[in-house]
Amino acid sequence: MPFFKKPYYNQYWLCGKWIFVADGFFGDNGKGKITNFLAHYLKEVVGMKVGLCVRPNGGANAGHEVLNPFGRGNREGSYIGHITPMGILQDIPCLIGPGAVLDPEHFFGTELPRFAEKGVDIEKIFVSRNTHLVLPHYPMVEQMEETLRGSGAVGTTKKAIGTTYEMRAKRSGIRVSDLLGDKNQLLEKVQLNIRLLKFFEGDDEIAQRVFQTLLSFKDRLRIMTVDEQELYLRIRERGEVGIAEMGQGTGLDNIHGSYPFVTSSLTTIPGGLAQAGLSHKDLGYGILVVKGPYWTRVGNGPFKTEFTTERADEFRQAGHEYGTTTGRPRRCGYPDMKFLQQAMRLNGADCVCLTKMDKTADQEKLAISDQFGCVRFIDGWKEADISQKSNWKDMPEAAKKYIAVFEEALPHSSEHCCRRLISLVSTGPSLEDMAIDREHFLLNPR
Ligand code: IMP
Repeated sequence: MPFFKKPYYNQYWLCGKWIFVADGFFGDNGKGKITNFLAHYLKEVVGMKVGLCVRPNGGANAGHEVLNPFGRGNREGSYIGHITPMGILQDIPCLIGPGAVLDPEHFFGTELPRFAEKGVDIEKIFVSRNTHLVLPHYPMVEQMEETLRGSGAVGTTKKAIGTTYEMRAKRSGIRVSDLLGDKNQLLEKVQLNIRLLKFFEGDDEIAQRVFQTLLSFKDRLRIMTVDEQELYLRIRERGEVGIAEMGQGTGLDNIHGSYPFVTSSLTTIPGGLAQAGLSHKDLGYGILVVKGPYWTRVGNGPFKTEFTTERADEFRQAGHEYGTTTGRPRRCGYPDMKFLQQAMRLNGADCVCLTKMDKTADQEKLAISDQFGCVRFIDGWKEADISQKSNWKDMPEAAKKYIAVFEEALPHSSEHCCRRLISLVSTGPSLEDMAIDREHFLLNPR
């Protein structure tokens, strides 16, 4: 049974198209929950078939815990995911895309068993032939590089995502298709890979170990491997809809982010299309996710609106801001509208979703840096007043005024002038804690 009941208007324009969920700041803003919500909403309320949910970029550097009150049998509960997009909680086929990177040890050793234990149908998880693999010797390389950087260390998640992308760019990475192909050629590729990494020059023993480890995953990977273009074609032909859950956030984009304190993939919606193997014509709708009352960043690098007072700690405690992947405390600050404007332009988003709106640490006033760079203080609201609201009209007046300040700063091009861009607000951890402005959410943006 759907939680969000409402007869819906015709969504024919979404048939055969993709909805992208991206992060407008530095990650950890709740894309996992939004993807799960969207999969449920499209299926049960809009009445569309979601053909596939794809992860276009990144690897197990991402991570989220999602509360799911629906599903069959014991599927209620909390789920931790890293690389698998969260459409899997709604029984939607999911793809680790060609532009993502997969650590088979983590995937088969931790992620899949954890899902299987909770009754998730892991046979619906697929991997692209072109996905690059995180090899067992990469973490050591990344660690050495971070040490060499000294005080300029990036503060990576230590998942060797950077090394995997570096080897891809060097044209000596190992793809899923290499593992499934000829054994001798695979060994040669692994040997070359290790030779090109100066830390291991000529070490054949390591090559043999990496080769054997890779072979141990071969059979399990073979049955999950697909040609994603065939799946995409099916969605177009059948008029289904696809969902893409991006990894990381706009500020971490390898080109447009706070370089060199960035991740190694492209994190915006246009980058996501390219990495998934889709074109701009496939994009139906883009959702940009940021936190409402405060913003966070984990890892090193600039954060212009970071709190320098105990406010950081108050929000950190209220929002439980510790990384799902690394457990590191997240840096906290106030929302930056100039940054959001830029993120909107880079992503071409059609909707902004504000998350954690219940986590105001019960502050009297909330700070925002407006589009002109001035700090404004706006009345807050109590957690109890907004918690678990799913009706837009029931939200506290103070929260509505706060949203209006965000809205003022968003780029209103002529096509957007009669459209409210903030039409989704997350009011609690669970799937149904979502206030939807039904007059504006999922309106045809073209
Ligand atoms: P890497 O992606 O592990 O190479 O780390 C590069 C930078 O991106 C570091 O500052 C990480 O903390 C940050 N980062 C990577 N993935 C995520 C994520 O999913 N959420 C938040 N920060 C991330």
